This record gives sequence, C-alpha cells and structure tokens, in this order.
Amino acid sequence: MLNLGILISGRGSNMESILKSVKREKSIINSAIVISNKPDAKGLKIAEKLGVKTEIIESKNFKGTRWQYDKKIIASLTKHGVTPQEGLVCLAGFMRIISPEFVKKYKNRIINIHPALLPAFPGLDSQKQALDYGVKHTGCTVHFVDAGMDTGPIIIQAVVKIKEKDTEDSLSKRILKQEHEIYPKAVKLFAKNKIKISGRKTIIS
Ligand code: GAR
Repeated sequence: MLNLGILISGRGSNMESILKSVKREKSIINSAIVISNKPDAKGLKIAEKLGVKTEIIESKNFKGTRWQYDKKIIASLTKHGVTPQEGLVCLAGFMRIISPEFVKKYKNRIINIHPALLPAFPGLDSQKQALDYGVKHTGCTVHFVDAGMDTGPIIIQAVVKIKEKDTEDSLSKRILKQEHEIYPKAVKLFAKNKIKISGRKTIIS
C-alpha cells in the first residue's frame, strides 16, 4: 500500500484530480494527508469534502530555516504513514522550494507537476514565458524532484498547441486540463512500481 501525501498552496485542482482518480485504486493507494502552507488554500476544503485529512503548516511568519520548516512537514507526513519507505509526496501547486535535506530524505519519492514542457520554462509564470518566447507548443510535465529547480527525471509530459489568440489565461486553462490527466496517471504508475529511474531518464514499464 502506497501512502500518499499531497502538498498544496492554493486552488488544489491537481490535488482534486489525483484524489478522485486514486479513489478507484483503493487497494494500492491510500490518500493519507493533504498539507497546505497557506491557511486559506481553497484546496483544503475540497480535500475535506473528499474525506481526506488535512493539515495547515503555515510558512508565512515561520522564523526558522527552510529545513526547519520542512521538518514540520516531514513530521506530519510521517504521522500519516507517508514515509520514505511507504510514501509518495506529490507537490501540487505547492509554491515553496523544498530543502535539499527533504529531497535527500525522500529520494525519488517526491514528484511535481509543472505547467511547461521541461526543461523549457522552469520556475514561475511558465505559461507567460512560453507565450513571450513565441513557442508553438508547450504543455506540462510530471517529474521527480531533485535538488535543482524543476530539473528531476521526467515521468510524463503532455503537449499543448499554442493558438495565435491565446492569452495567459486561455493557455493556462488548456494546460491545466492536461495536468489533470497526467498527474494521476503518474501517481498510479508509481504505485504499481512501473517507474524505474536510470540516470536522468525514467523507464516506464
Ligand atoms: C498548476 O498549474 C501547476 O502546474 C502549477 O501551479 C498550478 C497549481 O494549480 N505549478 C507550478 O507552477 C510549479 N512550478 P492547482 O492548485 O489548481 O493544482
């Protein structure tokens, strides 16, 4: 059984798509905990409605180091069974950089969704970056989290064609639709042990 921990900061639509989709895989995936660093994250209410435990670990006025904050997250994950042995941590619009210590402790057990075809347009405002650059296609990427910024091995990508009249908003909506498809898929592949990492690459069986 894989214990799932999802970290959010806001809307939580990726979290929702994962939680709804893994409900159908109850025998192998347990949605253990949703943690938000923001008390007003809309996703918290959605998780509660879906019967998943939630916790707020506020980051705003946290005085310690990044690692000290992450240790609070790890304590909550551990309490709910999301351990480096039996857990998977999904970053779903979690707008914080996580510490190298956290990444190391949960090596190859933290995954993230990014609204661009990595390695293009990492960091913030990826949809705007794509439009400003003038690319014809962009998309989204689910990848393992390593110590870099959006640099870990790629699990799944989906391509979205850019239309001439696209605005940041219209493009973001079409990308988000694809995010909701590929993120749950990646979680299920992980739960079924179908993802092997070989250097920078993943091999999906
Ligand atoms: C999503 O588009 C996700 O790809 C993006 O934030 C949004 C969160 O939406 N993440 C990043 O940009 C990470 N660098 P959601 O809260 O509705 O899932």
